[in-house]
Amino acid sequence: MFPELRMRRLRSGKIKDMIRETSLTVDDLIHPMFVDETIDSPQQIQSMPGVNRLPMDKIVDDAKEAADLGIPALILFGIPEHKNETGSCAWGEHDVVQRAVKEIKNELGKDMYVITDVCLCEYTDHGHCGVVDFETEEILNDQTLPLLGKTALSHVKAGADMVAPSGMMDGMITAIRSELDRNNFNNIPIMSYAAKYSSEFYGPFRDAADSGCTFGDRSTHQMDPANSDEALREVELDVFEGADILMVKPALSYLDIIYRIKTEFKMPTAAYNVSGEYAMIKAAAQNGWMDEKKVMYESLLSMKRAGADMILTYFAKDMARILK
Ligand code: PBG
Repeated sequence: MFPELRMRRLRSGKIKDMIRETSLTVDDLIHPMFVDETIDSPQQIQSMPGVNRLPMDKIVDDAKEAADLGIPALILFGIPEHKNETGSCAWGEHDVVQRAVKEIKNELGKDMYVITDVCLCEYTDHGHCGVVDFETEEILNDQTLPLLGKTALSHVKAGADMVAPSGMMDGMITAIRSELDRNNFNNIPIMSYAAKYSSEFYGPFRDAADSGCTFGDRSTHQMDPANSDEALREVELDVFEGADILMVKPALSYLDIIYRIKTEFKMPTAAYNVSGEYAMIKAAAQNGWMDEKKVMYESLLSMKRAGADMILTYFAKDMARILK
């Protein structure tokens, strides 16, 4: 006890580095990219300073820049030229994500691990993550599943290394796993957005991906922020369905969920540091209220400390530059 014991003895000098429990490395980072079929030059996303939507002919440069910084993986989101009721531009061989995957893999091969987000909300004209019954405004779970299977398969055929279904449909991992396996892609892993909350922190992303809903919201299939045991059930189902990596989203307000999932399942766990979390730090920094780099580092480190093995973050390149 004090005064013999003094915690500050190990808080300065080299020993401080030696006893550090958590580390953040460039291998922890996944760089999100928005590829937009409707533009010719990069377009700033207003609510996400420093993040652009990219035209097809700029994505290889961006992926290369990430690779040069040592970032091992990226995740692709597509903004299609045409949207319709079923989101059918999500699964065509020559659609936006499929083309982008091909370009990146052709150029970078094994130097960049390419993950694709699998959801329909960027492709449907109503902005929902699946097929909708307009009478009842219900998002039809079971009718959506084969479309997710088709979409995932088309990404993998284009060369994606891993698919990441984000639509929170029940049974989506089974639907995708079986479609991939039927086509002999049994070595392609699935990163499930397993515990994805119905969160206001996605606001800026919906600008970025032009995926806002024209009516209703996502609260009938995404999780209630009040629940934590339910997240374990969601994850358990995905584990049984064959998910290889479990994701928690958002991250900062859900560190307890990351911790519980890592502790309970001991599986590879990802945290999605979402658009709103990024925007808050950017806005505060622009006002001179916080030091952007320090807050970025501290918040990413907190996700690692909670148990995340990897982090999807719009800060990936900035963080990688500092780590370098
Ligand atoms: C759905 C998807 C969303 C995000 C990633 N995938 C949006 C949503 O559920 O509305 C959000 C990412 C972020 O906010 O950074 N395709």
